[in-house]
Amino acid sequence: MSDARLADLSRRLPDLRLLTEPGELEHYGRDWTRRWTPAPLAIALPSSIDEVQAIVCWANERQIAIVPSGGRTGLSGGAVAANGELVLSLERMNRVLDFDAVDRTLTVQPGIILQTVHEAARSHGLIYPVDFAARGSCSIGGNIATNAGGIRVIRYGNTREWIVGLKVVVGNGELLELNRGLIKNSSGYDFRQLMIGSEGTLGIVVEATLKLTDPPPPSQVMLLALPHMDALMQVFALFRARLTLQAFEFFTDHALEHVLAHGAQRAIDGDYPYYVVTEFDAVDERAQDAALAAFEHALEQGWVSDGVIAQSEAQSAALWRLREGITESLASRRPYKNDVSVRISAVPAFLHEMQALLAHEYPQIEVVWFGHIGDGNLHINVLRPDGMSEETFIAQCEHVTRLLAATLQRHGGSISAEHGIGLVKRAYLESTRSAAEIALMQGVRKVFDPNGVLNPGKLFAGG
Ligand code: MLT
Ligand code: ZN
Repeated sequence: MSDARLADLSRRLPDLRLLTEPGELEHYGRDWTRRWTPAPLAIALPSSIDEVQAIVCWANERQIAIVPSGGRTGLSGGAVAANGELVLSLERMNRVLDFDAVDRTLTVQPGIILQTVHEAARSHGLIYPVDFAARGSCSIGGNIATNAGGIRVIRYGNTREWIVGLKVVVGNGELLELNRGLIKNSSGYDFRQLMIGSEGTLGIVVEATLKLTDPPPPSQVMLLALPHMDALMQVFALFRARLTLQAFEFFTDHALEHVLAHGAQRAIDGDYPYYVVTEFDAVDERAQDAALAAFEHALEQGWVSDGVIAQSEAQSAALWRLREGITESLASRRPYKNDVSVRISAVPAFLHEMQALLAHEYPQIEVVWFGHIGDGNLHINVLRPDGMSEETFIAQCEHVTRLLAATLQRHGGSISAEHGIGLVKRAYLESTRSAAEIALMQGVRKVFDPNGVLNPGKLFAGG
């Protein structure tokens, strides 16, 4: 080890896996944002909580920043290491540790992939209901760090609702055991909830106890084509009143074009500006008839132009692909992403203002919208035109994001619904959180990480 600091770390932890090859630094130093040039000092792959604690102690002594790292599928730069940090990858700590049939909990290490959690829950006849398209590569530790949402929030809520215990190594290397799986625990501040969504700036999750639940009843998946934007919330209100929704997602014709070009199958002929994929409980024939009646009512009202109901699991998967495949279909274009939310009741007014703003500010730029409209959460993906430099493009997107942030502020919304603040959104945190809140957040960070070694620069500029 030519670097004295790393040689010291290796001396302290002779069994610790440390990577320093350029290809490895690049691989572990970036997330899905692909905007920053990775430049970590090294990658540490601990295999135990003891090793994580020792690394954090070493980082304090040596004043080295740590970037906790899971599946690096993040879209806000929260796991980027571009300034000589030590990336602490939890990918080797990826086991299921325990299943408790009475508590209906699964205790896992943080590097476990979400899909593996789903499979483990299913093997016990239960489900872990948080779900989204990155399920095959994101890790539970990263989900906790960002309070990940996804496509079933409308039914099950965010990650936050499903974590009943956490073990966390905080900034001074101490291990905290938070909530210990309790359902009821009125014993003061809930540090577990504070850790969830803190983006690795307060502690490193080294173990999590997840609450499981019963699988949902049989469901049906429907794709709807909508004639105009106002119809989105009209159909949502109708379907929510008449059916038990598991998901209600939307995308635009632009999003559809990309996903079709990327291999998905067209399910509705004709051109429509908006589409909805919805999944709802369909326990028996009566429930299926109710869905059909809701669809027909929407058709009569002129809120829906066309629609299909999946007749098999394969068709359901094909319909879902139209929504879930969007991110992947855009990935090579490295879109600038906004991930915003407002209260459901504010969606119609906000959508109109936002559409006018984007049309005015991005006249020559392709903007692809999709998202979890039933949660008031929209993803706005801006695509850099050929011939425009990255620098000009980012400058323009940041200008529009400032305007968008002001619009959100007027509507009481959030600049980050589910992707986190990371590096991408930190300049806009003030649009969502008051100065008093931000000052308290920084104070909390000082308490948990006095020397600022945990993911500095994420969430807040400068530390
Ligand atoms: C999604 O809803 O598909 C994810 O949040 C990913 C994305 O926004 O690209
Ligand atoms: Zn999303």
